[in-house]
Amino acid sequence: MNLLNIYDYEKAAAEKMPSAFHEYYAGGVADNLTLHENRAAFDRIKLLPRIFRDVRHISLETTLGGEKRPSPFLIAPAAMHKLGHPDGELATARAAASFGMPQILSTLSSVAVEEITAVHHPVWFQLYIFRDRGWSAEIVQRAVAAGCQALVVTVDVPVQGLRENLHRIDFSFPPEIPIPNLARAEHGQDNSSLLKLVNDNFDPGLTWADIEWLRGLTNLPIWVKGILRADDAQRAVQAGVDGIIVSNHGGRQLDTAVTPIEALPHIAQTVGDQIELILDGGIRRGTDVLKALALGAKGVALARAPLWGLAVNGETGVRHVLQLLHDELENVMAQCGCTAVDQLTPDLIYNPPQP
Ligand code: LAC
Repeated sequence: MNLLNIYDYEKAAAEKMPSAFHEYYAGGVADNLTLHENRAAFDRIKLLPRIFRDVRHISLETTLGGEKRPSPFLIAPAAMHKLGHPDGELATARAAASFGMPQILSTLSSVAVEEITAVHHPVWFQLYIFRDRGWSAEIVQRAVAAGCQALVVTVDVPVQGLRENLHRIDFSFPPEIPIPNLARAEHGQDNSSLLKLVNDNFDPGLTWADIEWLRGLTNLPIWVKGILRADDAQRAVQAGVDGIIVSNHGGRQLDTAVTPIEALPHIAQTVGDQIELILDGGIRRGTDVLKALALGAKGVALARAPLWGLAVNGETGVRHVLQLLHDELENVMAQCGCTAVDQLTPDLIYNPPQP
């Protein structure tokens, strides 16, 4: 197959992967309405391109988290990359490194954080806060010692979503693929069932006080991932977090939750001048990236797109997927008369005249 875009990779990955592993990555929750909407909401947005702007030289450079970055892309956290390819997150890390792109490594990574930071910087670490705060503190200390440059706390899994797709196939993580970031000499816990892992360990009692607790453990920047409401975004600013990832967990948690691209404008209008925003969810096209940046995101995080590349062709596949998205973004910026990401502003989005 000629792999020209992310959808081609999506199809090729579905053909190549064991169906249960594919279902784990591809699936949503309950009726998959939010999963579908994460895409459809992007497709409904129409652009108002600018003409005659001299677009010979396009730069994707930006700043994010106080650092210059070659592009607005990040790798989003997703569990268990070894379900896609034996090299797992190492392949993703090497591909991300070749673009100088931050990789947000999942707590549930199938490669240990130390192995990832040995081949790639910057790595940010995604954290689930467990009931056993001592265990969570150990995980944070490991991530800090490994050289991770930020913590990303996932805040949208007080309980596991209704993953009927996984129940139907009795999905479990294969025992031969470990979760090394959770390894603890004194705990021989069984990680095979995602539901059990979540129910036994994730803390449904989390509140903003836990961000203070985390702040006491490390000086690393703290991002929260999974905010969809402007009032929660304001609360995050008050709590002193460093950034917000607007996300509905890839449509895998609360079905019929609003999509990130629909939630973004109000959040950006409310707190966009005080804190950086990353959009996570549904990015498949350069136009999606352009729309997210125009509506107030500083960056976009990619989960399924690189996973499809990984499943199809390991590190080379991830690189190609990332290259395709870079090339598409440059192409559509040129067509919208933009040569730099700070020219991506809300007036590029078409708003129908009100009757
Ligand atoms: C998921 C959890 C592990 O979405 O984040 O499957």
